[in-house]
Amino acid sequence: MSFVPKLLTASLAATVSAVVLGDAGEISSLSYPRQSNNGSSEWPYGPFSTRGRDIVNTRGEAVTWAGVNWPGSGETMVPEGLEWASVEDILDQVKSVGFNFIRLTYADQAINEIYDRGNGSDVPLEVAMIQGLGMENGTKVTREIVAKNPGWTKDTTRFEIWDKIAEVAASKQIYIHPDVHVGKAQWCCNNTDGNAWFDDYNFPVNKWQRGLKFIAEWAKPHPNVVSMSLRNELRRAINESSPTSTIGYNWLSLVGNYTSATDAIYETNPDILVTWSGMQYDQDLSALTSGLNLNTAPCYKCDAVRDGYRRPPIVFDLASHPWANKVVWELHLYSMSENLDTGNCPIIEAEFYQAGFNALGIEKPGACNTTKDCPDAVRQTPVILSEFGSAQDATLFNDTLQGCIQQYTRKHNISWAVWSLAGSYRIRSGAQGVPDTWALGNYEWNGWNYPTGIEKWWKPWAKAQLG
Ligand SMILES: *[C@@H]1O[C@H](CO)[C@@H](O)[C@H](O)[C@H]1NC(C)=O
Ligand SMILES: *[C@@H]1O[C@H](CO)[C@@H](O)[C@H](O)[C@H]1NC(C)=O
Ligand SMILES: *[C@@H]1O[C@H](CO)[C@@H](O)[C@H](O)[C@H]1NC(C)=O
Ligand SMILES: *[C@@H]1O[C@H](CO)[C@@H](O)[C@H](O)[C@H]1NC(C)=O
Ligand SMILES: *[C@@H]1O[C@H](CO)[C@@H](O)[C@H](O)[C@H]1NC(C)=O
Ligand SMILES: *[C@@H]1O[C@H](CO)[C@@H](O)[C@H](O)[C@H]1NC(C)=O
Ligand SMILES: *[C@@H]1O[C@H](CO)[C@@H](O)[C@H](O)[C@H]1NC(C)=O
Ligand SMILES: *[C@@H]1O[C@H](CO)[C@@H](O)[C@H](O)[C@H]1NC(C)=O
Ligand SMILES: *[C@@H]1O[C@H](CO)[C@@H](O)[C@H](O)[C@H]1NC(C)=O
Repeated sequence: MSFVPKLLTASLAATVSAVVLGDAGEISSLSYPRQSNNGSSEWPYGPFSTRGRDIVNTRGEAVTWAGVNWPGSGETMVPEGLEWASVEDILDQVKSVGFNFIRLTYADQAINEIYDRGNGSDVPLEVAMIQGLGMENGTKVTREIVAKNPGWTKDTTRFEIWDKIAEVAASKQIYIHPDVHVGKAQWCCNNTDGNAWFDDYNFPVNKWQRGLKFIAEWAKPHPNVVSMSLRNELRRAINESSPTSTIGYNWLSLVGNYTSATDAIYETNPDILVTWSGMQYDQDLSALTSGLNLNTAPCYKCDAVRDGYRRPPIVFDLASHPWANKVVWELHLYSMSENLDTGNCPIIEAEFYQAGFNALGIEKPGACNTTKDCPDAVRQTPVILSEFGSAQDATLFNDTLQGCIQQYTRKHNISWAVWSLAGSYRIRSGAQGVPDTWALGNYEWNGWNYPTGIEKWWKPWAKAQLG
């Protein structure tokens, strides 16, 4: 999510210690149970795989997701809202809309801190809160979280909290999709935050891959964690003191880094689905779905490969990898898009088709006659819309983009997750106790920002696709 409200101009508080660079460690020093969700005979009938445009379970049934993003990559690196409501109550609220999917965001820093401690232990709740919020609010919020969540103490760790979320979600038949939102824990995203692109200053590739392996391992005992993402909203890295400097922002680097990361995940956990997000804040996967030459394929603000036409063509061929049936494409679209027109449905549909939804094998939309850029996909593969959103008030019902998105996902039965659940953040962009009017949930996590929207927009939409 790249939306930065104008009222939040305070600079980022220096509350988070910097990530210390070093060699990638080994997962085996950590103490997660080695179980498998292989071939389960009850819901969710995992592991999942892909079959053409569908995500399928072991019974061969297509599965659709409809749900919400639950932010957890802020400075405390503990999912938002737990000081206001228990895991059980938050998930009951999610379930009450008819949702079956949560994209749970995290920061690599949460995993780096485990390795940095040197003894394989995870960070306790109170340590996380004090580090993120300072002594006074850190101890206060810890007490509140413990009071709301039976069985937890100040020493309950970040990933014990994740275990609890996954377990309670499983009991309600909700999927948990871990999403690495940032390297350094903070509000996301812009081009100068150091989290933009591979080897940007908060995005060391070795730590990112280590984090992905950690999550792939963490997922094993949780049957409802059938998928995970590679990275949220890649974008061009811009260094404000050196605006022209680049670090190879193009399709070649994307495919190179994604291929080796997916290899690493597959080696750790060959069962889990991996979602691949696109260029320019996850708006664009066109070169991959359409099988274009990666040396020369167009791409907004990419670094040119000047001799691209003289190089031998390089085309990404998903089918040639052992994980061909584990990859799902993932796209986002917001009205703040720098380059895409979000002004009417026909154009949005043509842009979606070009950006990657062509991989669903759907008909070319009419406005392809206008955009003249709707190549066929080289391979059918599932595509999900894992972020979009807008103010949760009466404008929801006549927001052009939101209406188009609902119509489009229903017409093609596309899985989706709205941004976001969090009506308040314990810390965001340097301020504490920050409200968010784009959230489904209210500030106190005990109701909705816009109840009419829940009843008349979100519930009917989820029901239309999930039944
Ligand atoms: C699950 O089963 C598949 C094939 O049945 C196998 O390739 C894979 O290694 C198994 N995964 C685990 C984690 O045991
Ligand atoms: C969408 O797909 C799911 C399975 O993935 C199916 O159960 C449902 O009926 C489909 N809905 C529509 C409206 O086609
Ligand atoms: C692990 O290291 C942390 C940080 O140094 C320390 O607080 C904790 O007590 C250690 N835990 C164990 C089990 O040794
Ligand atoms: C980008 O993010 C950084 C770090 O969060 C922040 O300091 C900066 O103000 C942001 N820039 C813009 C233009 O929003
Ligand atoms: C930004 O560029 C300047 C000048 O090239 C360099 O000294 C500095 O280290 C860069 N900063 C980051 C955070 O990459
Ligand atoms: C990953 O991206 C970085 C930055 O663009 C690039 O230097 C590196 O070559 C890429 N790695 C692979 C394996 O393509
Ligand atoms: C697009 O153009 C083709 C070829 O000219 C035509 O057959 C088709 O009907 C047009 N589609 C729409 C929706 O206008
Ligand atoms: C937009 O929604 C508001 C509130 O429901 C309504 O009053 C207004 O007439 C709508 N505007 C348009 C252009 O549909
Ligand atoms: C503590 O949190 C409250 C919001 O709950 C905030 O208003 C206040 O500024 C925070 N205190 C500090 C020292 O940041």
